[in-house]
Amino acid sequence: MRCHDFGPSAGPEERERDRMRTKLIISFLIVVVINALVTSWVGVRLIGDEIVRQAQDKVQIDINSARETYLDKLDEVQGAVRLAAVKCAVREALVTGYVEPMKDELRVVRQKEGLDILSITDRNGVVIFRARNPRTSGDSQARDDVVGAAMVRKREAAGTEIVSRKELLKEGRDLADRARMKLVATPMARPTPETEETSGMVMKAAAPILDYDGSLVGVLYGAKLLNQSSDIVDKVRDIVYRGETYKGRDVGTVTLFQGDLRISTNVSTSQGVRAVGTRVSEEVYDQVIERGVPWVGRAFVVNEWHISAYEPIQNLKGKVIGMLYVGTLEAPYVDLRNRVVYTFLLIALSTAAVLFLIGYLITMNVVQPVKALLFATRKVAAGDLTYRVPTKSHDEVGELTESFNKMTTELEKATQSNLALTRTLEDKIRGKTEELQDAQDQLVRSEKLSSLGRMAAGIAHEINNPLTSILINSHLMAERLQTDEQAAENLRLIMDETSRCSTIVKGLLDFSRQTTPRKGPADLNEVVNRTLTLMRSQILLHRVNVDLDMDKDLPEIMIDANKIAQVFTNIILNAIDAMRDGGTLTIVTRMSPGRHFAEVEFADTGCGIAKEHLGRIFDPFYTTKGTKGTGLGLAVSYGIVEQHGGEIRVRSEVGKGAVFTVQLPAHSGTVAPGENRARLR
Ligand SMILES: Nc1ncnc2c1ncn2[C@@H]1O[C@H](COP(=O)(O)OP(=O)(O)O)[C@@H](O)[C@H]1O
Ligand SMILES: [Mg+2]
Repeated sequence: MRCHDFGPSAGPEERERDRMRTKLIISFLIVVVINALVTSWVGVRLIGDEIVRQAQDKVQIDINSARETYLDKLDEVQGAVRLAAVKCAVREALVTGYVEPMKDELRVVRQKEGLDILSITDRNGVVIFRARNPRTSGDSQARDDVVGAAMVRKREAAGTEIVSRKELLKEGRDLADRARMKLVATPMARPTPETEETSGMVMKAAAPILDYDGSLVGVLYGAKLLNQSSDIVDKVRDIVYRGETYKGRDVGTVTLFQGDLRISTNVSTSQGVRAVGTRVSEEVYDQVIERGVPWVGRAFVVNEWHISAYEPIQNLKGKVIGMLYVGTLEAPYVDLRNRVVYTFLLIALSTAAVLFLIGYLITMNVVQPVKALLFATRKVAAGDLTYRVPTKSHDEVGELTESFNKMTTELEKATQSNLALTRTLEDKIRGKTEELQDAQDQLVRSEKLSSLGRMAAGIAHEINNPLTSILINSHLMAERLQTDEQAAENLRLIMDETSRCSTIVKGLLDFSRQTTPRKGPADLNEVVNRTLTLMRSQILLHRVNVDLDMDKDLPEIMIDANKIAQVFTNIILNAIDAMRDGGTLTIVTRMSPGRHFAEVEFADTGCGIAKEHLGRIFDPFYTTKGTKGTGLGLAVSYGIVEQHGGEIRVRSEVGKGAVFTVQLPAHSGTVAPGENRARLR
């Protein structure tokens, strides 16, 4: 098994992996980010809404408490007036006209009860005495709502009322001045041409003073001026908010409005003074003052956002004349919400980071083996069947890898056996083709030789007799014409040519005489020696050296020794012909490597044979020696060797001599297949 190092090379598989990794990571990222966003958004919305709702619920409760406290204050005023009205001195004064004790009494009550106004009228509403401003009297208060109600119904009446500056001046200049205030410009207030407010808002109560018989003798009325009086708002604040602070500021604030004007408040301006003289935002004005509907919600108070509640204050006749306000700073809630949001975001982000990390690790775990597989498939596709992917995990990817390796192993085996099969087949086909070619060549040659042989036999037979008689007659004529030199010369020419014809005919006869060789056991070395002895004169004549290298252990083989000697004669004669200027003929005898054949090799140092002639030298009548040759020597030899079940081979190059090898079966009839093929090319 081989391992591949997926090193730094950025090949196509690297890009492949990057694509896949990027896709997976982006998918993870999208899921994680969407999850974080949705979770945060839902969480923030839910918690934010809940915080706002709770704040609004709380401010709703606060305004209820504030109203109760306000009404308690009004009750206090009413209680004080009632207390004074039942004093004996008061009724006595009205009944008897003896007023001095009453004056003292009222002064004491006013002081003790903290009333700004405490005045008494007769039964027609004409003021008899003002405890705060004794110098002014005699005016009628009959048209005043509260006083009028007490007069008409002979019962106590109480309510919040707007009092004009003119009326306030009657009760005391200091009161009128306290009520008078400059309007301070506030960003979101309703536009108004007015620059100051002169009237005031009071909590007012009136009690009828009745005679013993129940008839009305006068009315006692008292009031508290609310403008610039901080005790009511501060009391409400202390009761409702119990001194809660946030970052050094009061959490809760309470305000009394006369119309839309802050006349009494503990809301501070940016300079840290009570924000009297400022006015409410226009939208609150429209809802609460104009339509008489309470307001709960966010409101911009003076210079900061508050969660606030406004409730209309009505006068005795039900007209909206002012508002009661409570509010808590929005900042604590906003801070709380922000903390929650940040916490949420932090949790979401860290969860996202953890998820992302896990996703990344999973991605790498999947991508790495897949990449290795991809690399491997490319390797295998390119033909490297030895490549195996290292298996690391035991999950599906690991199984896939194992399957892949198994598949590649099988593929490799199959391919190898296929290759082997193909190679064997190729070898077989090549062998068979060669055999076929050889067989065909041999067939053609045999066919050619045998038909030629038959023809040659016929011709030789027909020509031999005439030739013989030509020769005999030529000899007879030569004896008779011994004197005529010219005639003798011509006759000798006739005889020579006739002899030549005889030689050809004899050769033809040799060639055609395809008789079965008469085989007997013979020693090839001896056949060679005998042949050389017979040819000694020619060899010497042509100055040819003969080198002998004979295998002493050559077994006797079954041959027709005469015919084989003729073959050797033909080969040696050709060698001598090829070595016109002398040379060396080397004759070697030996057994073939498989010991199926005995071999005789004749190597000369003659002119050699051109490649294109090699295929033709065994053809009958093929000669390069003109009239000197018959072209039958090798043809005849070939036939003889073939008849012995042997073969005759030649190899040669021009100028480098020729080597003829005669191969004869060592054991007749036990010739190994394929070894008896005559290789002629
Ligand atoms: N040892 C050799 N060296 C060169 N050429 C040879 C040799 N043996 C045979 N040949 C060639 O083969 C031809 C045919 O030989 P062969 O059949 O004996 O006929 P011939 O000898 O009558 O020409 C020769 O003419 C010669 O060209
Ligand atoms: Mg010859």
